[in-house]
Amino acid sequence: MARSGKVILVTGASSGIGNATACLLHSKGHRVYGSIRRDNLESAPFEIVRMDVTSDESVNACVAGIIAREGRLDAAVNCAGYGIAGSVEDTSIEEAQRQFDTNFFGVLRVCRAALPHMRQRGQGLIVNISSMGGLVSAPFHALYCSSKFAIEGVTEALRMEAAPFGVRVVLIEPGDFKTKFTENRLMTAQSQANPAYKELCARSMEAMEKAERTGLGPEFVARVIEKVVNCKNPRLRYIAASGEQRIVPLARKFLPQSLFEAIISSHFGVR
Ligand SMILES: NC(=O)c1ccc[n+]([C@@H]2O[C@H](COP(=O)([O-])OP(=O)(O)OC[C@H]3O[C@@H](n4cnc5c(N)ncnc54)[C@H](OP(=O)(O)O)[C@@H]3O)[C@@H](O)[C@H]2O)c1
Repeated sequence: MARSGKVILVTGASSGIGNATACLLHSKGHRVYGSIRRDNLESAPFEIVRMDVTSDESVNACVAGIIAREGRLDAAVNCAGYGIAGSVEDTSIEEAQRQFDTNFFGVLRVCRAALPHMRQRGQGLIVNISSMGGLVSAPFHALYCSSKFAIEGVTEALRMEAAPFGVRVVLIEPGDFKTKFTENRLMTAQSQANPAYKELCARSMEAMEKAERTGLGPEFVARVIEKVVNCKNPRLRYIAASGEQRIVPLARKFLPQSLFEAIISSHFGVR
């Protein structure tokens, strides 16, 4: 197929949502550059490029390389990320900083690298993968959820800053999906040693992992992202989740806080 479509960078394309998105967009005729940070993807239908989102140099070089080769970058989809788990008390500052360095600053680096080009061209699209955890926090996933709350904050403001220059900025909020995210999740070091939260943390992990392992495949999220790529005037937020999970943000909005907290606590086995 002739690749006359949009030039699109998808980060975190070695697996999961990033891989499914890069494959789908490629199959629709777009010129897709899927970024990976290490040698764990031997072949792909899309163009594989190198990027570690925790490195300014790596991000800048990757984005500049695509623009030099194609003469333009139409869209950047920020999928790269991972989760840490453990109580807030048992999370070291270094672990929290590492979580933010990938999930939040990684997204920020890509946005900052792509924006000058998109702004000067008067068009472009940035899609940031947040999470339902960026809307509603979960016990023992506080730092992961916080990194996604931070993405929500920066994206909301960036959308208004970039709109006058023709650059559209969108949040995707996935529920629980079956990807390598579950096995790639890191438990904080102290959570293994501190007996105080051990039982509660184990129950919360069990609930979270069960929801992910029995969740839909990442192609579901890829289809939502593809819709956004084709949309002239995308909304700020797109929840990508199964029917029952879509209720959670609504429940938060309309239920009394104490009741909502009781439901979430009970779901994660901590009450
Ligand atoms: N799965 C879910 O239930 C779910 C729900 C809500 C939101 N999300 C979000 O969706 C996004 C994709 O997750 P996923 O479910 O597809 O998980 P995944 O299968 O583990 O994929 C994560 C991707 O991010 C990459 N990555 C991690 N750290 C990176 C770094 N420093 N630089 C560059 N790439 C890095 C991974 O590369 P390696 O292969 O090298 O590790 C991998 O390609 C994440 O932002 C996640 O928070 C997932």
